[in-house]
Parts: sequence; C-alpha cells; structure tokens
Amino acid sequence: MEVMRIEGGNTLSGTLSVSGAKNAALPIFAATLLTSETCYLENVPNLSDIRFMAQILQHLGAEVGQTAPTSWKITAKEINHRAPYDLVRKMRASVCLMGPLAGRLKKAEISLPGGCVIGPRPIDMHLKGFAGLGMEVTVDKGYIFLDATNAAGDSIFLGGRHGSTVTGTANVLMAAVLTPGKTIIECAACEPEVVDLCKMLVSMGANIDGIGSPTLTIRGVDKLGGCTYSILPDRIEAGTFLIAGALAGKNLTVTNLRVADQGALLDKLKEAGVNFKIDSATSITVSKSDQPLKPVDVVTHPHPGFPTDVQAQMSTLMSITPGISIVTEKIFPNRFMHVPELQRMGADIAIEGPNAIVKGQSRLSGAPVMASDLRASAALILAGLVAEGTTWVLRIYHLDRGYDKIDEKLRAVGAVIERLPEKDMPQDLNPEDA
Ligand code: EPZ
Repeated sequence: MEVMRIEGGNTLSGTLSVSGAKNAALPIFAATLLTSETCYLENVPNLSDIRFMAQILQHLGAEVGQTAPTSWKITAKEINHRAPYDLVRKMRASVCLMGPLAGRLKKAEISLPGGCVIGPRPIDMHLKGFAGLGMEVTVDKGYIFLDATNAAGDSIFLGGRHGSTVTGTANVLMAAVLTPGKTIIECAACEPEVVDLCKMLVSMGANIDGIGSPTLTIRGVDKLGGCTYSILPDRIEAGTFLIAGALAGKNLTVTNLRVADQGALLDKLKEAGVNFKIDSATSITVSKSDQPLKPVDVVTHPHPGFPTDVQAQMSTLMSITPGISIVTEKIFPNRFMHVPELQRMGADIAIEGPNAIVKGQSRLSGAPVMASDLRASAALILAGLVAEGTTWVLRIYHLDRGYDKIDEKLRAVGAVIERLPEKDMPQDLNPEDA
C-alpha cells in the first residue's frame, strides 16, 4: 500500500486544472449499456473507480477501450444481465447498472451493494422507482432481480427522508428512457451530474423534459443510438482545490471548473471572508486571507444546497478558523470519519448527532492519520498542507478512487507532498504496525 507524506506550511501558487466528474462519469459509463452502438466518452477522470466500472462493463459483455488518458470507447453490442457480488461489492456505484440493464434487456440481476464508512447506503428508493415502472422486483440471497417484461411509464415520487437520491434518480431515469409510455419522476435529484447524464441520454436519442428540475418527464423510445459526450468538470474536486487556496493559496487559480456549480460553497467562503475572485465562468483565483477568517455554520443539502461531498474539507478550513463553527450533515448523518483524524492533528471538534461543533485552533500539527472515505481523505490532505511539520496519510487508495493525481497537481503549485510505499514510513509512526 502507499502513503502520502506532506510537509505543511508551503504556499500554493499557480494553476490547478479540474478533471472530469467521477459522479457523472460512473452513471454515464453505465448508460452506454442502453445502446448496441458505440459511445465515445471524453474528459473522463483517470480514477480507480472508473477503471473498475470499465471492468464491470467488460464482464457484462461490452467492448471497452481507453483510447487516451481521458477518452474511452464503449460498445455494448451483446451483453448479459448479471453483475456478480464479487464485482458489485467493491464499488457501490455499480448499483446504477440496474436501470440500464432492465431498460435494454428487460431484466437485471445485481448483487445488493454493501454499505460503506459513510453510512448504510440503502437503495430502497431505487427499488421503489423500478416497481413504479411496473417491474417485478425481488430480492433473494443478496441479489436483486428485476423483471421489466411488463414495464410501463408512470408517475414516481423519489424523495426519501434525506431528500432526493442522486444515483436513484439516475437508475430510474436510465430504465425509463427505454420503457414504453410517459414517466414522471418527482423529487428527482438536480445535481449537475444528473443533468450531465440527462444530456448524454438526449444525445443518444432519449426524450427527457425538465432537465435540471426536480420533475423529470421521460417519454420512452424503442432504441437509443451511440454518442460522443464530454463529461462535465468535477465540482467536488474544484471545491476541494478552492478550500486548499483558502488555507494556503497565494493567487491560486482553479480552472476548468464551472462557477455555476459552486454557488453554495462560494456563499460560505464569502461569509467566512475568504479572498477569492471569479476570473470567468470557468476559473476562480483564491488566496489565503491576511485577516483571520470568520467561523461559519454549514448544513449539507441536496443540490443546489451545500454539497455533503465538501463537508469534510470545509470542516478542515473551520478547524483553523478562530471561533465556533457548526457543521451539520443532513445527507449522511454519520459522515464524520475525518473528525478523529483531524483531532489527532490538534483540531478541537465535538460530534453531537449530525452536528460537528468545530472550535477553531490557531494551528494544526502534522501526524500520521488514516484515510477512510474518499472525501475524509481529501480533508486530511488539506489539513496536512497547513499543519506544522509532517503529516502521513495512510490508506490513500481511498483518495485515488475520486481524485485524479491530486499529489501531482498540488506539487505543481508548490505543495511539498509525495506518494511513498508504506514501508518508507518511519516504523514508529505507522499506526498500522501498532
Ligand atoms: C451520490 O451517492 C454520490 N455518489 C455521493 O458521492 C454523494 O455523497 C451523494 O450522491 C449525495 O450527493 C455517486 O454519485 C457515485 P443518494 P448516492 O442516493 O446516490 C439516502 C463521493 O464522495 N438514500 O443521493 O448513493 C442515502 O442513504 C460520493 O463522491 C435512501 O435512504 O447518494 C442518503 O442518506 C460519496 N434510500 C441520501 O438518501 C435510497 O434508495 C442521499 O443518498 C437511496 C438513498
């Protein structure tokens, strides 16, 4: 395994370029199963999750090729309907194979995904959506069986106790585009990644109205064609870099982003007094303020609210902002795996239910810390950039699932960060050896 070693206290200057969005690319890869024609996908991030999804598509029978570092060619001419446990369990986003398989083949057999560190990750709303389309849904021996022989369009409400569901909306949408009749999805997720999927499906010949709104109207078509589609920029990677700039930037420019996707984060950075300038619709320059920042309260919500995927990174910023900030996680109430690790670095954070009460400290100190989920890992990297001394982040395979060469990108703008084999870590520092 590898570790990340970071020397804190360096200034970040220059330009960071944002890669394509993981959370758009994964359902868009799955959507290529909806046609026997070839799909050409561009601006695909170079991530382990993407490579894994490509393996699953190949297992299902698709021809999958990476034609360039961020370009893929996928032809799902002859495919089978079964995705086994040993593949699905490794990446829960593979649940979004159900919709396209049921839409294209009128049947699907997918292993139930496990939970993960940020929560149980149920898929009851996905299954409610498929049942709403008239599919027979059975769960047996850890597998979900969908029989869509008699599927027909209908009205479906997809809101749950935490609001809308991103991959649930994607899943039902991908089934509905090839389901006869009119389907209305109410309380659909409005995340930019769902909008990107809709646009890709429309480019394949799907009939979708209300794109970007909480009500999607889909009129089923008989077949879809191939497409050439470029994935939108990753707003979560962009947000992570903007916070890096707030922590340690000096005219750090984050480019290839979409300012329109950053509303909630920019609102909070402005409230905190972060020094940033919007250069254009696709570029923001940010610097560490020479005045102390102000504490802010953050509550995560479905888009366009504050993204849960930036909550941990924002908590790092608030952990060195004088005063009390309250970070409330409404989407995944126990998504606080980063907190005990930040505490090891000197952060003063108390968890009360879905709230993290953050008492800003004057500094953090470098320490060996353990990555857990993807965004908690990013929060620890950010903390290492400003901590005094050396921070070692272990289990960085979590990071590589969602960030395309984050160490190379940060090093190019002045961070002292390097990826090393775990054996190079001083033995007495390695908690894995404890
Ligand atoms: C997507 O997960 C993202 N993953 C997550 O990003 C992101 O945190 C999440 O949306 C929220 O924005 C991908 O797109 C691959 P949900 P998803 O269904 O679709 C509950 C990252 O770091 N729920 O919108 O699985 C659920 O438990 C990852 O990039 C049900 O109760 O999230 C949660 O509390 C982490 N029943 C809430 O809804 C269901 O059937 C929102 O979940 C489905 C969801």
